[in-house]
Amino acid sequence: MANKCYAAPMEGLTTYIWRRAHHEIFGGADKYFTPFLSPNATCRFQTKELDELRHNEGLYVVPQILTNCAEHFIWAARELQDMGYREVNFNLGCPSGTVTAKRKGAGMLAYPEVLNACLEQIFSALPEMQISVKTRIGKLSPEEWPGLLAIYNQYPISELIVHPRVQKEFYTGTAHREVFFWTAEHTTLPLVYNGDLQTVSDMTQFTACDTVMLGRGLMARPGLIRQMRGGAPATRGELTALHDVLLEEYGRRLSGDKPVLHRMRELWNYLSGSFSGTEEYLKRIRKAQSVGVYRAAAEELLRDCPLIEE
Ligand SMILES: Cc1cc2nc3c(=O)[nH]c(=O)nc-3n(C[C@H](O)[C@H](O)[C@H](O)COP(=O)(O)O)c2cc1C
Repeated sequence: MANKCYAAPMEGLTTYIWRRAHHEIFGGADKYFTPFLSPNATCRFQTKELDELRHNEGLYVVPQILTNCAEHFIWAARELQDMGYREVNFNLGCPSGTVTAKRKGAGMLAYPEVLNACLEQIFSALPEMQISVKTRIGKLSPEEWPGLLAIYNQYPISELIVHPRVQKEFYTGTAHREVFFWTAEHTTLPLVYNGDLQTVSDMTQFTACDTVMLGRGLMARPGLIRQMRGGAPATRGELTALHDVLLEEYGRRLSGDKPVLHRMRELWNYLSGSFSGTEEYLKRIRKAQSVGVYRAAAEELLRDCPLIEE
């Protein structure tokens, strides 16, 4: 089993509000990563990006940058350094069509020479910064990976976080773990494994790496990292507390019911994994048109549905 455990960035889910609540209620992850920031030619972070950067006291948070432009990356990293961050993460894994069409995220993996030139510029401009990379293993086929790894191996990447799927697989099928095992034998970079670790038993069986990153599994079972450290699974009271903080804080910070309902429905896509017999409750949650109706349905789910303790 791994020793260190990171919380993966998840756009719309692992907000600063979630990170703080998770840390407080469940004891936290060794590192949290912000959902991606998208620096551009305006050389300004958006307000919602600044919120992600300004509310992280007491947590180890790594800002993640999504861009295909070395200048924009360097600008953002320097701004972040001025804000006190010592590590930034480069997103080379996002599979979304709108992102990859611009040759960003996993889209950049189809252009190894562009990737190499971009890394070259970034690493020479930022010698004092820790730069980690979160990557998929190719755009269309795992056969692209040895070439990509050869590029990464040329740079002092502080951690290489590998999600062993290719872009076109999105989140379907199973991760190519054998490719990760191969990677461990072909690099001296510090490696982090990410992909399909959902339960404590998944984590116990996974011994190939000292550090793992958890995404959907941690959203579904927020107590997972504590369990990995020998602690108890999440209790009903803790899950309710997490839910209530998110509902209250999103209600306070977003304007109108719609965006709050959107966030909470997205949360339930994962958090329902902590309970059984949720179907009818989730239907009501998805149908709710106001926060009041939503709250009643969510309260009933949290009170009535049996917990899955694994
Ligand atoms: C809804 C959603 C949002 C995500 N947002 C990001 C993101 O902002 N940055 C990123 O690097 N990965 C993002 N990911 C990918 C996750 O960080 C992670 O790599 C992926 O879910 C695989 O890990 P898992 O099997 O533990 O979930 C996202 C995934 C999902 C499902």
